[in-house]
Amino acid sequence: MMRSHRCGELGRDHEGTDVELCGWVHSRRDHGGVIFIDLRDAYGIVQCVFSPGEAETFAIAEQLRNEFCVKVSGTVRSRPEGTTNPNLPTGEIEVTASALEILARSETPPFQVDAHAEVDETLRLKHRYLDLRRPEMQEKLRLRHAIISAIRRFFDDEGFVEVETPMLTRATPEGARDYLVPSRVHPGKFYALPQSPQLFKQLLMVSGLDRYYQIARCFRDEDLRADRQPDFTQLDLEMSFVDVEDVLDVTERMFKQVWRTVMGVELEDFARIGYREAMDRFGSDKPDLRFGLELVDLAGVFADTEIKVFRSVLDGGGAVKAITIPGKGDAGRKELDGLVEEAKSLGAGGLVWVAVTSEGLRSPMDKFFTDLERTALRETARAADNDLVLIVADVRTSVVHKVLGGLRTRLAQRYDLIPDYPLEDPRRWRFAWIVDFPWFEHNEEEDRWDPIHHPFTGIVQETLQYLDSEPEKVISKSYDITLNGWELASGSIRIHDPEMQARVFRALGISDEEAEEKFGFLLNAFRFGPPPHGGIAPGIDRIVALAAGETNIREVIAFPKTQTAFDPLTSAPSAVDAQQLKVLHLKSTAPEPEPS
Ligand code: AMO
Repeated sequence: MMRSHRCGELGRDHEGTDVELCGWVHSRRDHGGVIFIDLRDAYGIVQCVFSPGEAETFAIAEQLRNEFCVKVSGTVRSRPEGTTNPNLPTGEIEVTASALEILARSETPPFQVDAHAEVDETLRLKHRYLDLRRPEMQEKLRLRHAIISAIRRFFDDEGFVEVETPMLTRATPEGARDYLVPSRVHPGKFYALPQSPQLFKQLLMVSGLDRYYQIARCFRDEDLRADRQPDFTQLDLEMSFVDVEDVLDVTERMFKQVWRTVMGVELEDFARIGYREAMDRFGSDKPDLRFGLELVDLAGVFADTEIKVFRSVLDGGGAVKAITIPGKGDAGRKELDGLVEEAKSLGAGGLVWVAVTSEGLRSPMDKFFTDLERTALRETARAADNDLVLIVADVRTSVVHKVLGGLRTRLAQRYDLIPDYPLEDPRRWRFAWIVDFPWFEHNEEEDRWDPIHHPFTGIVQETLQYLDSEPEKVISKSYDITLNGWELASGSIRIHDPEMQARVFRALGISDEEAEEKFGFLLNAFRFGPPPHGGIAPGIDRIVALAAGETNIREVIAFPKTQTAFDPLTSAPSAVDAQQLKVLHLKSTAPEPEPS
């Protein structure tokens, strides 16, 4: 071993011990002829002192710069009175160096390894190996590891088997575009990287494996956001002979155990909210439950209204709803106009604002309200003096929900209305199950019915009768987990009857031939005694990001890609030479890059 101890483990107990340490120069200070080095390894930082008395060692120390990789030999001593550092776990001691070896020199790093926030993210990603040297980044990777090992321990104890499924496979319909891999030996043919292991885990159930899980890589070519990467990780699981409650039970126990063992937090039982209720109350199927600002229905308030916009919307079967922002009744004209624009950008035709003041209501609509409506509005919207009521009306209730749901989360953030409990406080973790999703959603652009989940999702028996006549009434046996406004997981009990699966494909406008072509292997498998089965897939990157208190999953992925699916470290994706394309039977039609 090159070292006797790790930097971070040294303390008063080691006083007088001779140690050999390896690590990086975190910082260097020269003080009155003495050189102080903060030496950093994966386990912490310790101060090393070089004095001119040790002439040879001192001469080497004079060459040290930040991020040099070194080996220091010396003796642990108490720091002199008045020089201890309470902010450093090793702050009571230092190492008096007697020998120093430079293991590798470093150029001046493009950014300081101990400074966070100020560094441009592309620069951090380009030099990710330096970025990951920062103790806080290492902590996040360790947290990720701890969460994944806790998950593995849990499923081990529950008798699940981890099985790897192929990366080179056929398309899985999870709603995104596929990443394709051209085949050399099958000219003109392509593998697809899996969007999820969905079809294979169902096949494993047909195989009789009973309980499967996998920490699975998934690939999706879709618009990237803070919670999406093209290449991400799921905890994928599937179980046989189960119904909805069984999957919910095992998954909720898993989350509780992970939070207990890794975070030291006893989670409350997850809330359970029906999809309709979630939309009605929060305007979203991934509601953030840490704050109120719930949507209120104003149909009753304006039941007899003469106000044209509200009248026509209510007569047309639409919705008039509102959210109430506490303490914002004094908002100025500019801010209010901004909110109207924001509502429009979310899809609303307009937004009616009503500020409640001690002298009455202030609103462009106030002159049209009757006294009865004014009183009913205040009561229904539970608006006190100095609150601001934001009303959206539309014949399409879904638009009202989308706009108010969007404003609800944005304004809660903007106006600082979300309580920021520390990571170890159970109140921070407002997990919820969202259940009873509709099976279909109408795709306006293409005028067809798409699955809200994937086409293998089971149907609640009592709603099967609507499959061909009123698809919007069909309820699925699916469920999501949401946490603080993020969708963490999604799953369902599956269809296991080939006849039923064929009916569903038809309802989706997928012909028998197309179904056979794309999913024939699954339908075939279902001809051989498939067990009833179901499962779920929580996203590992999202779980770890929230557990780390981060708002972007890139922070908890060692080598992530940027918002444009580019990797500044390796410069992937990159051009390939013509010969490589040729053996793959491909020709690029992309425009020639500009000469640089
Ligand atoms: P779904 O497509 O909802 O379901 O994905 C499940 C979970 O995976 C995570 N996730 C992502 N995380 C990061 N970047 C992405 N681009 C991304 N896309 C999805 C989310 C999401 O909740 N096969 C089904 C699951 C099942 O039915 O068992 C599936 O993949 O956390």
